[in-house]
Amino acid sequence: MSKVALVTGGTRGIGAAIATGLKIAGFDVAANFAGNVEKAHAFRDETGIPVFKWDVSDVKASAEGIAAVEREVGPISVLVNNAGITRDGWFHKMDYDAWSAVLRTNLDSLYAVTRPVIEGMRERGFGRIINISSINGQKGQIGQVNYSASKAGIIGFTKALALESARKGITVNCICPGYVDTDMVQAVPEKVLEGIIAGIPAGRLGQASEIAALVNYLASDASGFMTGSVLTINGGQYLANG
Ligand code: CAA
Repeated sequence: MSKVALVTGGTRGIGAAIATGLKIAGFDVAANFAGNVEKAHAFRDETGIPVFKWDVSDVKASAEGIAAVEREVGPISVLVNNAGITRDGWFHKMDYDAWSAVLRTNLDSLYAVTRPVIEGMRERGFGRIINISSINGQKGQIGQVNYSASKAGIIGFTKALALESARKGITVNCICPGYVDTDMVQAVPEKVLEGIIAGIPAGRLGQASEIAALVNYLASDASGFMTGSVLTINGGQYLANG
């Protein structure tokens, strides 16, 4: 029987590539999404991956959404916490909404989504939790005090939960992508983005499929001895000790 994988924010951008990659690797995949119904349904029709709509920052909605995934697809063995948003702007001009929306969606969601999933993983003695952080959680970024704080928080979450879970056959790792060619990165002002690309030693943006390939490894049985890791994949833009 194939294992079930849930990808949050799994119908667009990096999440869609991850969901598709896991399906090709043989998982029964479910993709969560929050807002864009039209895109989500197009993704479902194109890939055959069932989609589930809920707000990952909402604890109750997440518990209900996960119950629906487990009822309709099966017990979750692989969880990819990928959903994330940006509300860029200088901190001295940032209102509380921009701070709070980013922290809730990017970081509170790790509680809301992982908490209902992990008990089943512990009971079954197997799990793969893969959290998508960011280069900007490692190095910081002008205009992203909120986002960088949330993505750095994901790194701490990963390490602590890895320690708690290691004896239960559950690995918890995080990936820090650099600038990947998605709608989120294309929303950066053109002139600013040109400057960012000029600073990437590889000379280009990443591809979502390159992040998905790394997720496939972390989701596999073969990765069982890797836990608590912070994996850097950014074209050489920032060389972190992982
Ligand atoms: N370094 C130094 N100064 C900078 C700067 C920088 N990187 N960026 C802007 N400034 C300066 C400008 O030169 C300008 O100075 P002057 O007024 O003296 O000319 C001043 O700041 C205002 O600049 P802007 O007109 O750009 O101001 P803004 O308020 O419209 O925008 C910003 C500022 C929000 C930081 C904008 O530059 C921006 O969006 N930057 C990109 C942020 C970014 O990298 N986001 C990543 C999104 S993708 C993602 O998050 C995925 C991932 O994980 C990597």
